[in-house]
Amino acid sequence: MRLLFLVWIASSAPVNCIGATPVFAGVDEKTWCLSAESFAQLINPKAKAVIVVDPYGNMPDMDSIREVARRHGIAVIEDADEAIGSEYRGRKAGSFGEIGVFSFHGSKTLTTGEGGMLVTNREDVYRRGLFLRDHGRNPGDKMFWNAEAAYKYKMSSMQAALGLAQLERIDELVERKRQIFNWYKSELGSIPGITLNYEAPEYEKHLLDGDSSP
Ligand SMILES: Cc1ncc(COP(=O)(O)O)c(C=O)c1O
Repeated sequence: MRLLFLVWIASSAPVNCIGATPVFAGVDEKTWCLSAESFAQLINPKAKAVIVVDPYGNMPDMDSIREVARRHGIAVIEDADEAIGSEYRGRKAGSFGEIGVFSFHGSKTLTTGEGGMLVTNREDVYRRGLFLRDHGRNPGDKMFWNAEAAYKYKMSSMQAALGLAQLERIDELVERKRQIFNWYKSELGSIPGITLNYEAPEYEKHLLDGDSSP
């Protein structure tokens, strides 16, 4: 098996930041997404979570990856930073793991300049996130009462308002990305030696979030 690697440091650096060790798995040559086979081969007893990246709005074979993770009791975290609006078998990007994350960096389809969003259906993760992002302060707790040394990861209300306004026109933003991708396809698609992003028929997605300089 020939392995390819494709990653931006932001997907793996948080692993080091909490004192854990990232192990890099290969991507599928056709889809450029995490290979379920490579992931399965790398699992060891210390593995706690897999971070699945949706590169350029594309999405991996989530069914196979989730099945491998389930068999080994490993949590799935979906880095959907480049895939807002994408779908896999009718389900939205960001909704496949215990946690999904999105970036709203200036290069992304939906941008607030900087910042991002964490989504989860787990109440405990949601509560812990609210606590950690505000210097270890429980929402509604006494002013300047910090129970733990944590982080300041809050988005400003002005950025959030900008993001909400863009969310209302997400279909239009995604459509524009598809149009741009189709320009690339028609100009470059038939040139020997050039391979463009693969679009599997069962996926609906936009491609190319224009992210050349994170
Ligand atoms: C796949 C992926 N993960 C993580 C990030 C990091 O996003 P941010 O810069 O908003 O933290 C990016 C942004 O470039 C990305 O493309």
